[in-house]
Amino acid sequence: MSIGYVPIRDILPNISPNIVYEVILTTKSRDGKVDAAPMGLRFIDNNLSRFLLRIYKENKTYRNLIERPAGVANITRDPTVFVKYLMKDKDKYLREEIEDSEVVDAPRLRNAEAYIEFTVESIYDEVDPVDFHCLVVKAYWGVRVIEPYSRAAYALIELAVNISKVEPYLKQGLDLSELFNAIAYSLKVIKKTATGTVIDEYSKILLSSLSENSSSLLKQHLLRSGIHLE
Ligand SMILES: Cc1cc2nc3c(=O)[nH]c(=O)nc-3n(C[C@H](O)[C@H](O)[C@H](O)COP(=O)(O)O)c2cc1C
Repeated sequence: MSIGYVPIRDILPNISPNIVYEVILTTKSRDGKVDAAPMGLRFIDNNLSRFLLRIYKENKTYRNLIERPAGVANITRDPTVFVKYLMKDKDKYLREEIEDSEVVDAPRLRNAEAYIEFTVESIYDEVDPVDFHCLVVKAYWGVRVIEPYSRAAYALIELAVNISKVEPYLKQGLDLSELFNAIAYSLKVIKKTATGTVIDEYSKILLSSLSENSSSLLKQHLLRSGIHLE
């Protein structure tokens, strides 16, 4: 068996190369500082031994993968984990939730449902986001959690993605209206399907992560859509 080939379908039987999967990527800088952040990945070959990451240069994950070209894709369907690792103060979660992984010199998250350890094979950095071509080193189960499908969970992931785009859109002078409409819709779904739950709480944490300027722009937009935030 050549290095890089693992029967990943034994672990994740329904994975398709045509789908972008959202994972938590854990990486480590040259001087040993660990990081975790939500990122999308897409497999680029039919036997699922290689995948592509597209990461913006301003992210810590980008710098870590340049300095130490290995990491772990932590697979979880818990949307609150995506929110936690989007926060500026995520170090407090990291300290409690990381542990050594099995092969690569980068940590993994405790309690993920499955893990894909990888090394970076090649980098194309003429563009931003930068393309990282990654080779699967090992894939294995973590802790399996079976939960029924819930619209709120997916709405929280959508909310997280769109909140993470607000500041970059503002910096680039892009039109925010479509993004704000998507945020309004996710909030409505959460209100309708998960009021007073952890998911509802985490949607508030996400909103509070915005800068004062973007938060006030968003609030004005939401008011026009009939959503009042405290
Ligand atoms: C579900 C989800 C998927 C994301 N996917 C990507 C991605 O593929 N590439 C990227 O550069 N940022 C992506 N982001 C945004 C980063 O997670 C965000 O900028 C984060 O703060 C980067 O953290 P870091 O600086 O510790 O790397 C995503 C965010 C979410 C919520």
